[in-house]
Amino acid sequence: MTSISRVLVFGSTNVDLVMRVAALPVSGETVLADEYLAVPGGKGANQALAACRAGATTCFISAVGNDDHARLALTELERSGVDLSGLAQSKRNTGCAVVLVDDAGRNQIGVASGANLDVHAGQVSNEQLQSSSVLVLQQEVPALENLQLVRRAQQLKIQVLYNLAPASNVPDELLAGCDWLVVNQVEVSFLAGGSHVDDVEKIARKLSDRHRLNVVVTLGDKGLIAIVNGDWLKQAAPLVRVRDTTGAGDTFVGYLAAGIAEFMPIELALGRAVEAASIACSRMGAQQSIPLVDDVVTD
Ligand code: RIB
Repeated sequence: MTSISRVLVFGSTNVDLVMRVAALPVSGETVLADEYLAVPGGKGANQALAACRAGATTCFISAVGNDDHARLALTELERSGVDLSGLAQSKRNTGCAVVLVDDAGRNQIGVASGANLDVHAGQVSNEQLQSSSVLVLQQEVPALENLQLVRRAQQLKIQVLYNLAPASNVPDELLAGCDWLVVNQVEVSFLAGGSHVDDVEKIARKLSDRHRLNVVVTLGDKGLIAIVNGDWLKQAAPLVRVRDTTGAGDTFVGYLAAGIAEFMPIELALGRAVEAASIACSRMGAQQSIPLVDDVVTD
């Protein structure tokens, strides 16, 4: 039987090499960490796991190499029951990220894309698309593949949630084919031409009007602002002790996609996603920090 709260995530898989440092390095500086952890990550994989932990039936389409990192990268997804039947094997190495985290929980991340460069839209069947309520995309796989999927989803009238992370230019056609755009402050600044943006609301409104889509801007510890069906929504974030912000944005995206797929009232879906992302910030790592739905308190 096909579940109606099905989330389809198309995107990247990485192994994260996580190092805790006292302070993030400046250009040309070397910093030391006592140890490193090798853990599952990748924006696509994190978002798929978050949607699954939020309670949605989740299918994840990606690619990994034929290496030990592939096994490690898929551990949590397999354990949680995410459908990985559309996964491809690439001749390249599994994607790998070096994640530096400082004492305030801020991070710097470099990613070697590897197998993620071979993820392609043809891995997604029309049947998989049609049986999904929401298609979730981000930007660690080739842009053209995302565009092709957006076109197909549009034809099949499947909602598309696009997370513009990491920030890069996208064609207008792609944004116009999406229903939801999720961006953080850095990504909004990028869309506004690269400089720091004081008036986030103005940019969000412009994007929403121009592409006729719902726009959600996450603001870190300040919560979020959103324009949904033309109306402004705001959501504060709970106060938490921040340990590591890695994967918090992915937790937000996965939880929001699950809420949309469940036809949750949007205020509730946004509130739950903010709460889940805040919990993720209070824990170390990307995937191990994503809370189970029962741990997320909503009003
Ligand atoms: O968003 C966090 C993720 O970004 C990490 O897991 C890392 O793999 C990079 O893709």
